[in-house]
Amino acid sequence: MINKKDYYFDNSATSHPKPEKVYEAVENAIKNLNGNPGRAGHRKAVEISREIYNVRCKLANFFNIENPLQIAFTANATESLNFAIKGLDLNPGDKIITSHLEHNSVLRPLYYLRDSKNISIDFFDDFSQIENLITERTKAIVVNHISNVNGNIQDLEKIGFLAKKHNLIFIVDASQSAGFYPIDIQAMNIDILCFTGHKSLFGIQGIGGIYVNENIHLTPILEGGTGSYSKMERQPKVMPELLEAGTLNTPGILSLGAGIDFINEIGLERIKIHEEFLTDKFINGCKNIPNLIVYPTLSEKRGPVVSVNFKNVPSSDIGAILDEEFNIMIRASFHCAPLAHDFLNTSEYGTIRFSFGFFNTEEDIDYAINALKIISENI
Ligand SMILES: Cc1ncc(COP(=O)(O)O)c(C=O)c1O
Repeated sequence: MINKKDYYFDNSATSHPKPEKVYEAVENAIKNLNGNPGRAGHRKAVEISREIYNVRCKLANFFNIENPLQIAFTANATESLNFAIKGLDLNPGDKIITSHLEHNSVLRPLYYLRDSKNISIDFFDDFSQIENLITERTKAIVVNHISNVNGNIQDLEKIGFLAKKHNLIFIVDASQSAGFYPIDIQAMNIDILCFTGHKSLFGIQGIGGIYVNENIHLTPILEGGTGSYSKMERQPKVMPELLEAGTLNTPGILSLGAGIDFINEIGLERIKIHEEFLTDKFINGCKNIPNLIVYPTLSEKRGPVVSVNFKNVPSSDIGAILDEEFNIMIRASFHCAPLAHDFLNTSEYGTIRFSFGFFNTEEDIDYAINALKIISENI
């Protein structure tokens, strides 16, 4: 069974490998385009500013955003979500609706608001519960599009419609969906979109972004140099400067641009179909393995993320066996989403999470299923 090849099924943590052009873009950024964007008028600074604007335009096309300048680059989705949630204009007693499947990068900023500003948080499991939670004090809905624990997909069009109907700010954590599932901020009525660059968008780690609707003013939680409005005492109120304090991650931004080029070349739909095929094949293969639990979703379809467990066996033990004996890389244990584990009843042992990417093959899935079969025969 031992096979020298590495089997990488941890794409929800970070995608691997990256398309060749992403590696090239990073090298090009550091070697040839290494000026500080917006910080000088010389050729190198101007050239890199232009390249960065191009990536803003690529993102705007990708998410159907009208004005590319409403997108700010951040370090990752966590930073974007902190900007979005902590930057809201709220009063004590206001309410925010969210789901039990959220990542800590949504939950912790929300708990911060609860503790520091007396904001209440109302949780839902299923779409049908949302409208009943809305009161006069509700100001926003925050949801993760695809759960990083079980791959559950929220219906953003339906939630966006409700948010618009009740005049609520709709914030989406697209960490697990951007680059897998089509996102159209206009059709989905998304007011604030938070994404990370290093997962399905194929960028490197340390780059992310946030789109903010022109009608919303966030209070920035970081202030500093922007290269523009230098004499202004406080952070400029215009996007993207409002949320871009300090020198940008140029290699990261260009890697993200190359990642989007790659997705456009292959076609988002083709990527989705391939990953859905692998996910279905994996789930079908798991059905015949004794004592293996596959955790369900509330949604009919799921993202390319599947959590499993062997009955009464800690997930981290299986994670170690998969890595050491089979060269299989997955994430075991807890996935930064404690309420999702409560919901799935996996708070004791966590889960073994397989997450598939575009570069996984059918053969990889056969290998993974076979490995799980062998483990099930030996534990
Ligand atoms: C659903 C979800 N939200 C937010 C994040 C945070 O992403 P990042 O660590 O890139 O900030 C993750 C990362 O795994 C995630 O899965």
